Amino acid sequence: MTSTEVRNKFLEFFKSKEHRIVPSAPIVVKNDPTLMFTNAGMNQFKDYFLGNKAAKDVRVADTQKCLRVSGKHNDLEEVGVDTYHHTMFEMLGNWSFGDYFKKEAIAWAWELLTEVYKLDKTRLYVTVFEGDEADNLLADTEAEEIWKNYISADRILRCNKKDNFWEMGDTGPCGACSEIHYDLRSETERKERDGKTLVNADHPQVIELWNLVFMEFNRKADKTLEELPDKHVDTGMGLERVVRAIQLKNSNYDTDLFMNTIIELEKISGKNYGFDEKTDIAFRVIADHIRALSFCVADGQLPSNGGAGYVIRRILRRAVRYGYSYLCFEQPFLFKLVEKLASQFADIFPELNAQKDFVARVIEQEEVSFLRTLNSGLSRLENYFETGKSSVDGQVAFELYDTFGFPIDLTQLIAAERGMTVDMEGFQKALAEQKARSKADAAKETGDWNVVFDGEKEEFVGYDFTEAIIKITRYRTLTVKGKEKYQLVFNVTPFYAESGGQVGDTGLLTGTENNEKISVVDTQKENDLIVHIVNKLPENFHQNFEAKINLQNRENTAKNHSATHLVHAALRLVLGDHVAQKGSLVDPSKLRFDFSHFSKMTDEEIAKVEEIVNEKIAAGIELDEKRNVPYDMAIQSGVTALFGEKYGDVVRVITFGNNYSKELCGGTHVQNTSHIGRFKLVSETSVAAGVRRIEAITGDEAERFYTERLNLLSEVEQLLGNPSDLVKQVQQLLADQKSALKKIEMYEQAQVLGLKKELMSEIENRNGIHFLAKQISASNPAQIKDLLFQIRNEVDNLFAVLVADIDGKPSISIMISDNLVKEKNWNAGQLIRDWSKHIKGGGGGQPFFAQAGGSDVGGLPAVIENAQSLL
Ligand code: SER
Repeated sequence: MTSTEVRNKFLEFFKSKEHRIVPSAPIVVKNDPTLMFTNAGMNQFKDYFLGNKAAKDVRVADTQKCLRVSGKHNDLEEVGVDTYHHTMFEMLGNWSFGDYFKKEAIAWAWELLTEVYKLDKTRLYVTVFEGDEADNLLADTEAEEIWKNYISADRILRCNKKDNFWEMGDTGPCGACSEIHYDLRSETERKERDGKTLVNADHPQVIELWNLVFMEFNRKADKTLEELPDKHVDTGMGLERVVRAIQLKNSNYDTDLFMNTIIELEKISGKNYGFDEKTDIAFRVIADHIRALSFCVADGQLPSNGGAGYVIRRILRRAVRYGYSYLCFEQPFLFKLVEKLASQFADIFPELNAQKDFVARVIEQEEVSFLRTLNSGLSRLENYFETGKSSVDGQVAFELYDTFGFPIDLTQLIAAERGMTVDMEGFQKALAEQKARSKADAAKETGDWNVVFDGEKEEFVGYDFTEAIIKITRYRTLTVKGKEKYQLVFNVTPFYAESGGQVGDTGLLTGTENNEKISVVDTQKENDLIVHIVNKLPENFHQNFEAKINLQNRENTAKNHSATHLVHAALRLVLGDHVAQKGSLVDPSKLRFDFSHFSKMTDEEIAKVEEIVNEKIAAGIELDEKRNVPYDMAIQSGVTALFGEKYGDVVRVITFGNNYSKELCGGTHVQNTSHIGRFKLVSETSVAAGVRRIEAITGDEAERFYTERLNLLSEVEQLLGNPSDLVKQVQQLLADQKSALKKIEMYEQAQVLGLKKELMSEIENRNGIHFLAKQISASNPAQIKDLLFQIRNEVDNLFAVLVADIDGKPSISIMISDNLVKEKNWNAGQLIRDWSKHIKGGGGGQPFFAQAGGSDVGGLPAVIENAQSLL
């Protein structure tokens, strides 16, 4: 069975069990403060488990792109070194949201593995939860009994909380789980040692395939468990591992999921896989990491210096490091692997194929800049070696690891080549400190909700209303960097929560009973929950509140949001269809739009885009807003959907002109484009390789911009005496200035010539040395330098010191003929360092010529005296 068949059979199997097949959520997570990347198939369903939202379908299955490189689930260091962990992997999953439970989950897992995939039953083992005293949980005898219907009791193992109680993160849905393991060892090995002793023992051939989680609890921030309203099933099977089990391979990398990339890498590196463990690790690291990188970039996450972008950057650096050290790549190479990968996944994850050129470009650019960093890291290490220490300090090794992306084994390798060791204890300490810091940072942002009214699901009414009478359903206090932050959730809300680039609404709550006022300073989404950030908690939660949004801000934001749609469409018309949104920010004062495009926009292109948008504004196009459009229907009608966005089955479609702009969008908009008033593009810059950024203003901001410009123009006109033709007048002014400067230059040249003649006549002969020491007037040090070089060309055995007061600043210049430098060992650089003390300054140069500046012109005569007495 090929990997594609394995994937398809999984989805078909659960379809036949009445599951709805849904697409993978993007790998990069938005709107969840506890997660940066999707780390399990269940993430996108978190709200269903917690009871924040009702599931539309109670049985669902999919294949989910996951990344485990940060937070609770982090496998990065193992990846490539072993043969069965990955940064990015596909998790095949089936879910029950309050529907079936253990009996069906176990029965179907067994049926799929043994009857569809036809795995060897004698190689299978299962585990169940043994219970945990601290959490007051009993052993999962229920699952154990069910398993006994399928597998002999001696193949059912009880395991502890670490392996058999699954939690998404430090907080969130969790429950006991039952894992299915497979023994891939040879017949002889299996006879020698019972496979069950190797389950959960990190044996490379006895591996976990599938995890069936029985979700029953929510882990709260105070670490206690709270029962969920319903019982759910969450299963996750590693596609890479099950394919390996079916294809009977020794390693996940030997399956058809990775071999394409490995063969490509063999071609471009000229090395072979499977001959040397060191290079094999590099092959595996690269084959794994390029998938993680490509899919994250395709889902909109660009490498950067913080957050999720930094995680991506670190993965790329790890891959480049291994390529550089073990496969001898000194030039970018990773980007060359994108093409094959994109076509391999074209059917199941088309987002990569659709953007392969962009993705390759981003990766290549990042490689180029890291190879540069790498070289500076290497020279940092070289400098360190020169200090003559016998061991590399742990802190330095950590800096190389953290800032320059050097894996620690590489630093050890380079150190060993110099007969040095690395202070590993110090390195581990610095690493542990960093981990503790980031853990503390993450923990600070989470806290538990306090329920005021239960059972009420939140409803957003802000498309139709700007105020509403609301009830508070829950509240929470978070401590962020020592400061308390208060959050509220309502039953209904007119407040728009930040999403799709549009900032959250601000506004005011007024208690209908006690008239207390609470400011809403921001509105944010947490998964699908609308969270109102307020300046204080109410005195009385149990009353109705009048909730009003700040209307002015909302209106200005709507202008900018609608203008963003108009400009997006204009960019595609002017630059081409390759333009895809890569980021956007819409607030009351401006709009910012990032999009894929490979070159700087020309002035003509910018003008054209502005012209089109302003035409669409002038045309007064009515907003056409359609809610609850089935996703497929919307796509068929030609809407622009964004890569890396998670869309539901029904979507909202915003159209401005049927043939002009049609987007899937949750934001707030103007009723008619004429309300935007005016559009002005104020900047066009680059944000990353292949990504351009424009900033623009609309409405009053744009009016203000034009008024300020006009005022500026009037000021200039006045300064120039209100000429009839301003441009001509400025051109004349520039021409006059140019010719005046030319004249000044001519006069200066003549002056220098005169000065030179004068100075030549003043040169004295002291014991065969042509000596000159004098204060002159000059307009800059370069002029004096030029003069001294001219004199040197005409006079031999020269020792000349010229000082000047240049607009109140002292300057010293010394020129010595080469033969005197040699014979007498005189050094202009040294002399100037001594003499510049007189003028409270400093300078330097070479033995034959040096210059210095300072701050005290009063010291110039002392310099001349020094020169006199030297001779
Ligand atoms: N959430 C579980 C896991 O990630 C099963 O899907 O292993």
